Amino acid sequence: NGLFVLVLIWSSRSRQKNEPPLDKGPIPWLGHALTFRKDAAKFLAKMKTKHGDIFTLRVAGKYVTVLLDPDSYDAVLYDSVCLDNSQCKNQLLKRIFSLQLPNIKPTTERRWMEQHFQGLSLSRLSISMNTNLQNLLLNDWKGCSPTEWREEGLFSFCYSLLFRAGYLTFFERRNDATAVYKEFRKFDDLLAKLARCSLKRGKTVMSTQERLWELLSSNWSSEESESNSWQQSYRQFLQEEGVDAEMQNRALLLQLWTTQCNAGPASFWLLGFLLTHPKAMEAVKSEIRGLTLQDRLSTPVFDSVLSETLRLSAAVLISREVVQDKILRMANGQEYHLRRGDRVCLFPFLSPQMDQDIHEEPQMFKYDRFLNEDKTEKKIFYKDGKRLKHYTLPWGAGGNVCVGKEFAVTAIKQFVFLVLTHLDLEMCDREAKLPPVNPSRYGFGIVQPDGDLKVRYRLKKTQHE
Ligand code: HEM
Repeated sequence: NGLFVLVLIWSSRSRQKNEPPLDKGPIPWLGHALTFRKDAAKFLAKMKTKHGDIFTLRVAGKYVTVLLDPDSYDAVLYDSVCLDNSQCKNQLLKRIFSLQLPNIKPTTERRWMEQHFQGLSLSRLSISMNTNLQNLLLNDWKGCSPTEWREEGLFSFCYSLLFRAGYLTFFERRNDATAVYKEFRKFDDLLAKLARCSLKRGKTVMSTQERLWELLSSNWSSEESESNSWQQSYRQFLQEEGVDAEMQNRALLLQLWTTQCNAGPASFWLLGFLLTHPKAMEAVKSEIRGLTLQDRLSTPVFDSVLSETLRLSAAVLISREVVQDKILRMANGQEYHLRRGDRVCLFPFLSPQMDQDIHEEPQMFKYDRFLNEDKTEKKIFYKDGKRLKHYTLPWGAGGNVCVGKEFAVTAIKQFVFLVLTHLDLEMCDREAKLPPVNPSRYGFGIVQPDGDLKVRYRLKKTQHE
């Protein structure tokens, strides 16, 4: 009954002066956890209508302040004194990857990542990615004729190609990309449940995880890998940070997930939007037509299509632990007290990305939303007459902004251009619509579809004449 008393104390929290509206939800202790898990986007949109741009919810014993005013995001993103990212991150690493890396300093890790995903490494990785994509897409027609239509779901087509090409790029294995992809998809499907602890750690989870650790580590010590490869260097980094061999293997799965889980699904939405919006498809095709590889660096129409795709599909939940009491000053001058031990979350998907005060008809895909009339990038957006700094935030912002952004953009562009220039690609049913979003994926990066979009493809005639 000690626990019972604790629960009562928790339940008895009430809103203090200067605190955001408090909503404890229908169930003691659990609060809003169940509705939150089911569909975070729908639930938080409802809370926004009820309480406004800031409110505190009880979620599984924890108090979470949700901030939905993009103009006030910087007060959270750039505060590393009162707010801390590593506690939330470590909790997820443990839950999802059974991984503990407590001794690695976030700044050291960030520096390592910047060195290995950006600058000189970036061009090396991008060249390798392009080669791998080309090989998989154009040369790998195992036993079937490239002139005949092949039918597949667009999601599995995109995810499988980008995953395998990315895996070959970062992990430099030759033989097992397809096996790793299959196992990874099983793991990816369990991910949301693992993160929310709503899945018992039964046999399936353990065996999928263990199988992936095994697959990833089997080449770990292989002499085939060059000593300066990305994964070798990662291992060295972990060793220097004092991480033991077991955790090194587990960390590889984390890296596999971080580097591979978003680009495939993003490419699916992008090609899916193009296939279901013929005007957009034509605009992109006519931009690509006649461009040389060099010219392809400047592609404002494609860039707008990508930004619009990410606006509609990128739904990361950015979380920080409040490690010191904080006064949060909103852009409108209002001040709120945040209590130590609580959590703060930003959900850019709801605002700015789906905010109707910023983006007209936010549910609609408009390929030229991020394009000015003179075909330059549109960067000026307003809310309530005020120009916004953050009008879309697919990559996060501040100290934890996506390290792989440039690599991801280049990879998606390479893939889409390869598909559009080398393949005939069409929907099996011309009237088909994009499948809906799987609502349990809100909060974990690029959302995934519930179901798939059947397409058929073959090599263009010019490719095999
Ligand atoms: C972090 C989005 C692709 C590497 C992040 C974060 C976001 C994001 C929103 C920050 C998460 C947070 O603040 O909690 C995306 C999107 C992608 C993508 C939308 C593709 C469409 C990639 C790729 C790589 C990558 C291809 C690697 C090659 C990373 C890494 C971090 C990260 C290493 C962790 C940064 C840190 O903790 O400081 N990504 N990402 N991402 N991303 Fe990406």
